[in-house]
Amino acid sequence: MTPRPRVTDLTLAQKASLLTGATFWSTASFSELGIGEVVLADGPNGVRRQLQGTDHLGLYHSEPATCFPPAVAIGSSWSRDVAAAVGRALAIEARALGVDILLGPGVNIKRSPLGGRNFEYYSEDPLLSGVLASAYVESLQAGGVGASLKHFVANDQETDRMVISSDVDDRTLREVYLAPFERVITESKPATVMCSYNKINGIHAAENRWLLNDVLREEWGFEGAVVSDWGAIRTRPAALAAGLDLGMPGPGEFATAAVIGAVEAGEIDEATVDDAAARVLALAAYSNSDRSTADWDAHHDLARRLAVECAVLLKNENNTLPINQGASILVVGEFAKEPRYQGGGSSHVNATRVDIPLDEMRILAEECDVQVAFAQGFQTDSAENETLRAHAVAAARLADTVIVFAGNPESEESEGFDRSRLELPESQTELINALAEVARRVVVVLANGGVVTLEGWHDRVDAILEGFLLGQGGGKAIADILFGAENPSGHLAETIPVRLEDTPAWLTFPGEQGHVRYGEGVMVGHRYFVTADRPVRYPFGHGLSYTTFSTDSLAVDVTAHDSLEATVTVTNTGSRAGAHVVQVYLSTGVGPVIRPRRILAGFDKIHLEPGQSKHVVVELDRRVLGYWDIDRKQLIVSPGLYTVQVAESASTVLLEQTVEVDGDFLPVTLTLQSETGSWLDDPVAGPQLRARMQAVIGSSGEEPVDGSDGTAMMRGMPMNQILSILGGAIDGDWLLSLVAQPETGRNQP
Ligand code: BGC
Repeated sequence: MTPRPRVTDLTLAQKASLLTGATFWSTASFSELGIGEVVLADGPNGVRRQLQGTDHLGLYHSEPATCFPPAVAIGSSWSRDVAAAVGRALAIEARALGVDILLGPGVNIKRSPLGGRNFEYYSEDPLLSGVLASAYVESLQAGGVGASLKHFVANDQETDRMVISSDVDDRTLREVYLAPFERVITESKPATVMCSYNKINGIHAAENRWLLNDVLREEWGFEGAVVSDWGAIRTRPAALAAGLDLGMPGPGEFATAAVIGAVEAGEIDEATVDDAAARVLALAAYSNSDRSTADWDAHHDLARRLAVECAVLLKNENNTLPINQGASILVVGEFAKEPRYQGGGSSHVNATRVDIPLDEMRILAEECDVQVAFAQGFQTDSAENETLRAHAVAAARLADTVIVFAGNPESEESEGFDRSRLELPESQTELINALAEVARRVVVVLANGGVVTLEGWHDRVDAILEGFLLGQGGGKAIADILFGAENPSGHLAETIPVRLEDTPAWLTFPGEQGHVRYGEGVMVGHRYFVTADRPVRYPFGHGLSYTTFSTDSLAVDVTAHDSLEATVTVTNTGSRAGAHVVQVYLSTGVGPVIRPRRILAGFDKIHLEPGQSKHVVVELDRRVLGYWDIDRKQLIVSPGLYTVQVAESASTVLLEQTVEVDGDFLPVTLTLQSETGSWLDDPVAGPQLRARMQAVIGSSGEEPVDGSDGTAMMRGMPMNQILSILGGAIDGDWLLSLVAQPETGRNQP
């Protein structure tokens, strides 16, 4: 076996050139030293391998590859298996196309429904995002291809994405935006992490030492390489010093010269270059000289099967769906013929083939004697829709069921800009309403990368199937669900609000004067709606099935290290097989911080035959019990009562059980600057202090300490001010001696 090349075999110039791409998509190679190139490519829901013209905007041609359901769909599957299956298949395709590192998954948070890249991210929820991404990374890497977890961090909008400063407080960063990254990094060890374009609290991610070194490497133990987003580096030596290993894209003679210059000028230690070069060299572990072959047909079938698990049945009045045997249907809308199945930008895949919903419906219709007619109804790129609408309305009178394929035009959903509205185009909402006037039944099938509001037409239609963007097999998946060949099992990974104005980031998204202030703090998505008790159209977690499930016998155990284990029994009480998502939430009021009224704490998706029951065990780890303590700069689990809730969605709890958790041992640190209230509440010092104060104040004829208004006022004042008001009648050293004794060490309330 040839020994692995080491950095000590390289000159400074060679090491420096490893730190910037040699081409748009690959690292430097030195054949004389046995160092080959490492090839990177997008990601995340298909391999975008460009062999001729190169760009990171999805403009130039790329090799055909399977377009699997994008993250917006995977999020709605709530299935680790689905996420893992995508990772596994992508590893095979990446290797077939000569790609060593796939640029994904993205675990940024859908802070606003208008986020331009929401289709590339899983959820508004950090736990759901982290768990699914972790399953994806694990299986991708098990297939020999490295992942690039992106975009690190707080890159939750496209407006001004290269310059904006995401101003986020520590607790919010830790509990919401860093949380999915932490989970994936500690559980699945991605080969690389891609830093984002934006600044975090004023410092560019690429030059953010706190982020790349202190948090990522030192706290989380990340051992892989940090890669820049394409063009995110401003000053190469500064990025290197902050912990960024590989600057992309290349070639980058200037960047390499700048690194060499910085070392020669003594501004950067050569050891820093060595460390970064070693991490880039280590990526060779993912170099795949043995190209696999992909079975493109099998992957197309897989893409179809996975898409079935992602579509969300939002509404189904009077069992409108599935379509009945012998019925006549009118299909309306150009998306039935030209489906939207992916978003625009760097993730855009040149699909090997695409299922057309109308064709797939016609095949199934024939099998069950259903008549199918088609009317275009609207044009996405034209305001002239009256004739098309009139024609569709006339045809609708003759059909048993009208199925409208509506959605956002492709031009409105892409990397690089945020959406400007929550509504579907007016031509479509007018059409839906006009059809609802005359048709017996109306079903709406939606295709959109980010949520759309359903207001103005929701109540007039009978059923809504939210497909989001389902990848190249989505057409068949939708047809199968509409005709009942498959049972829908997707659930919302993001809230569908009533109005944009109701959403938590409405007042601050997308920011102003170069700053976006994450003013809603930890109250992101469903956490806000539930805590503030705001009405929503459909809550996070909502999703219907053609069968019914019952959930019983919740038992909760406290396991080691303040983790919990919830067990429930789920039964399929309907007449057909189906999949069910067990959603476990946590509610607590303990600790010194305001918590969301309910957070998602764990979940599992199970398949059940009619009448079948299963026991489901869901682990709730310490991370979901804790809060980020800004004083102690660590995650703290407060002692006290925690209620575990098994719910149908974030707003409907089915079962709950409260347990007591020991929590972390926190020695009390009272000083004379601490508030008097904290002293009075201290179980050791409090009673003695109270007695002394009563003696002092009582002897002056004033009201007693307990219950007087004066006490309430005193509580917020520093202890030393009270001591001085009391004119030395109580001695500070005596007070301090009360809490200096070891037996006063105890849990903070
Ligand atoms: C995107 C990344 C992508 C990279 C390479 C950038 O514009 O933000 O997500 O991986 O380009 O295409």
